[in-house]
Order: sequence, then C-alpha cells, then structure tokens
Amino acid sequence: MLRDIFPRRLIQWLGPLVFAALAGLVVAAAIVVSGVFNLAATTPHPQTWADFLHYVFKRSVAFHSGDLKPPADLDSPNRIALGAAHYANVCANCHGTPGLGQNPIQLAMTPRPPYLPAQIVQDDDKAIFWILKHGVKYSAMPGWPTQVRDDEIWSMVGFVKTLPKLRYDVYRRVAFGETGSGPVNLPRIDFGSSPALRRYVSFNSDVPQGNVNHYDWPAAGPGEWGQTGDVLTTCARCHGAAGTGRAVGAFPNLAILSPTYIRASLTAFASGKRQSAYMQTIADQLSPAQIDGAAAYFAAQPKAKSLAAATFAVPAADVAYGAQIALKGLEARHIGACAGCHALADTDVRAYPRLNGQNEDYLVNQMKLFRAGGRGNSLNYNPMAAVAKNLTDREIGAVSAYYAAQTPYGASVLKAEGKLVQAQR
Ligand code: HEC
Ligand code: HEC
Ligand code: HEC
Repeated sequence: MLRDIFPRRLIQWLGPLVFAALAGLVVAAAIVVSGVFNLAATTPHPQTWADFLHYVFKRSVAFHSGDLKPPADLDSPNRIALGAAHYANVCANCHGTPGLGQNPIQLAMTPRPPYLPAQIVQDDDKAIFWILKHGVKYSAMPGWPTQVRDDEIWSMVGFVKTLPKLRYDVYRRVAFGETGSGPVNLPRIDFGSSPALRRYVSFNSDVPQGNVNHYDWPAAGPGEWGQTGDVLTTCARCHGAAGTGRAVGAFPNLAILSPTYIRASLTAFASGKRQSAYMQTIADQLSPAQIDGAAAYFAAQPKAKSLAAATFAVPAADVAYGAQIALKGLEARHIGACAGCHALADTDVRAYPRLNGQNEDYLVNQMKLFRAGGRGNSLNYNPMAAVAKNLTDREIGAVSAYYAAQTPYGASVLKAEGKLVQAQR
C-alpha cells in the first residue's frame, strides 16, 4: 500500500527522516529543560522575530474580526466621552496620555504597549474592537472585563481612533470632566476596617485560575481612591460633583436615585451581577463602607435633571406617546404603566430607580440592554427584561424622551404618578 503512494526512493529516506525529527525533539527538550532560553523582558525580541510575531497577530485578528458590524454612530460625542473617561482610568496606565507620553515602567515592558496617542497600528475598527474585547495572549494587553455587552467596547473604539489627533488640554476636559479643570473639595470616605466580603475569581470565568490569581473583594487595586478615601473625586469625573452627570456622555444622573438603589447597583457591579466594564473596575475597588458613603452622598444631592443633551431628535407626538406608556401603559399589548413601579422609587424597599430627569441616551441604552439580556439586576427582583422585550425601538425612544424631559420631583408628575399608584392599590 505504502509502495503505491510513495516511490521507492522516498521510502528509503523515511527512517532517517523520522530519526532526524526525534533527534530534533530531544535537542529542543534539552534546551527547554536546561533553561538557557532568555525570557527576560529586558532582552527585546530580535527585529525579524518581532516582525514575524506581529504578522501572526495581525493575521489572527483579521481572521477573527471579519464578521463584526461597527455601529453607525462610532464617532458620536457621547461614545467618545465614555471611552475617554475609561481610557484615563485603565488604558493610560500602559498606553500613555496624549501630550505626556509613557512612563519608564510602561517602556520596560516586552512587548512594549504602543503609544496609542501617536499611532494606532490597526486601522480597521473591527480589528481594534476584537483586540479590546479579547486581549492579546503572551502580552500585557488584557481582555475586556465583561463579554456580555459590546456597546461599551464600541465606544472605546470610537475614542481610541481620536487619540492621534487629541491635544492634551482637550483630552483632559473630555476624560476628566469638570473636575479636570480644577480641584473640587469633596468629602473623603474611609475604606473602613473589614473590607473582604467574599472570594473573588474573575468577571469572565468561574474556573479558579490558581491561587496566585485570586484576590479578596474588594481589591485595593491600581486606582488609589480605594485606599486614600478620595472616592467622590473619581465618581465626579463621570457623574459630576452634584451627581447630575456631564453635558456630554451617557453618564447616568445619580442625584435622582435612592440610597438603596445606588447601594444595590454598586454591589451588583462589584460582584459582576450587573455588567459594565466602566463601572465594574470602579465598584470592585470600593469597600462596603465606601459604597454606603457614596450612596448617601449622591442621594442627598439636590434633585435636578441630567445635564446631558440627548443625541436623538424625538418628534413631539412621540413624546406624548411616551407619556402614555409611562403613566397608563399599553393595555392592548399587556404593557403596564412604567410609573406603576418607578413612581415607588422613594418609598418601596425594592430598589426602583427614579427615571424622571434621567439622561435620555442612558435610558435608551439600558432598555436595549434589558431587551437583549445584557443587563443583570441589582437585587433579586428584575422584571425589566420582560417589560423591555415587548417594546419597539420607537417606543423605547419615546418613553425615554418623556422621562428625560421631566423635572425629577415636578408637582404635575408627582400628582399623575400618585393617582396611578393609588388607583392600583
Ligand atoms: C497592562 C498593560 C495594558 C493595558 C492596561 C492595556 N493595554 Fe492595550 N496593549 C498592551 C500591549 C503590551 C499591547 C501590544 C500587544 C502586541 O502587539 O503584542 C497592546 C495593544 C493594544 C492595541 C493594539 C495596538 C495596535 O494598533 O496594534 C490597542 C488598540 C490597545 N492595546 C488598546 C487598549 C485599550 C483601549 C486599553 C484600555 C481598555 C488597553 N489597551 C489596556 C498593553 C496594555
Ligand atoms: C469612567 C467613568 C465613571 C466613573 C469614574 C464612575 N462611573 Fe458610575 N457609571 C458610569 C457609567 C458609564 C455608568 C452606566 C453603566 C451601564 O451602562 O450599565 C455608570 C453607572 C453607575 C450607577 C448605576 C446608575 C443607575 O441608574 O443604574 C451608579 C450607582 C454609579 N455609576 C455610581 C458611581 C460611583 C459611586 C462612582 C465613584 C465611586 C462612579 N459611579 C464612578 C461611569 C462612571
Ligand atoms: C414591575 C415593576 C416595573 C415596571 C412595570 C417597569 N419597571 Fe423599569 N425597573 C424596575 C426595577 C425593579 C428596576 C431596577 C432593576 C435593577 O435591579 O437594576 C428597573 C429599571 C429600569 C431602568 C434602568 C434605570 C437605571 O437607572 O438604570 C429603566 C430605564 C427602566 N426600568 C425603564 C422602564 C420603563 C420605560 C418601563 C415601562 C415601559 C418600566 N421600566 C416598567 C421595575 C419595573
């Protein structure tokens, strides 16, 4: 049989070839066991080897990112502001800050994290997305902390693309909000004495990764706020010192929420039960005492509307339709009035968030997440997936525009909601 496939002369070579292969393996094993391989980060890869590795990396990314579809609004100011704030928190630690360069520790890594403000080597949005979502093996580039929602990753893609053109002063404003332009004196919240609540493994995997990777929750990680007690300055960068968010970005308004709901949300982010890379990396560095303190601080701020302007233009007729959904529901389709639950925001033990005066883009995004299954609940009660499942995009836009336009504790809204709640009892 073998003779039919291979001519005679080749068969003569088969023995020596197998022997050479085995000898090669033995030599390779001897080199590995001897330890002469130099894995020091201080010895850079030879240029041709580095070029080869980079080629393998680029081909792998191109292959795996082929089917992705970038959203149309990748360069919207909201996405860029969201991405910028998270970049300053997490990515600048390795990739550097526009106008300020990288520090000696970043430059001592192999492979060296590219200075993204100078150059994005990958010019394809899909490739950048894939790298951000999955990270790069055998390099320091981490995967995204949660894999269940892509909207936040696309916002980061939108921001990363602006880096090469971004001046330092503009970056500072977009990444740090109002606190970037001067000190804001906010009260400190002490870390407290008994921080460890439970054993923590990883956002993305339940499989223990070996003892060296375990850490107790919360981790007093790279963000110093966990240790210094300077928690609120960090929150203020995205949510504003008064909790009402910023003029740009889909940052939720915290001033309208109850302390119960804020506490429940932060605890859910920290445990990974509610997914957001932007908030999980913050919340899991807070102790229970700091979570309580932040909840009390923001819930005590004057109740005001979100500072943000909406990106979507919703026709007036739709806003009226939104009011109908909010206060009466859509009986024919078995959609109950939203206010039936949400008007109880300040009175019920269940953690109902107040929607009046919330950031419009944030409301739209959250309902789409509920509908797609990308938002976990804060307490053990979460009827929202079932509610959002029945709503069309137009209805989500309409009811969000209605709620965003309301003064948080305006007399007419409270009256309409009060009547509704009484009618239900
Ligand atoms: C601990 C260090 C570290 C952190 C934190 C980090 N990166 Fe990276 N990143 C790297 C390294 C190292 C590479 C180079 C990988 C390679 O070429 O093998 C890289 C590669 C990249 C690339 C591909 C660059 C290109 O053009 O080819 C992008 C884009 C990127 N990172 C963005 C980010 C963003 C956005 C964040 C924050 C969410 C981030 N990185 C966080 C270390 C880091
Ligand atoms: C890097 C920007 C950023 C920082 C810093 C930040 N947040 Fe957030 N926060 C967000 C974003 C974005 C969301 C929306 C997350 C989502 O899409 O689920 C959010 C959501 C929240 C929510 C849930 C709101 C709701 O209506 O459900 C709470 C509560 C919250 N943040 C509190 C805090 C506190 C307290 C701090 C400071 C310790 C803080 N955040 C720091 C960006 C930030
Ligand atoms: C049966 C009670 C109930 C009804 C009816 C209801 N909700 Fe909710 N909703 C909740 C609860 C509870 C949460 C908090 C979920 C969690 O644990 O994070 C919530 C959360 C939300 C959020 C997220 C708010 C934030 O700050 O993150 C939005 C947006 C929302 N609901 C919109 C609506 C709209 C619009 C309607 C009507 C079409 C509606 N809800 C009807 C109970 C309800």
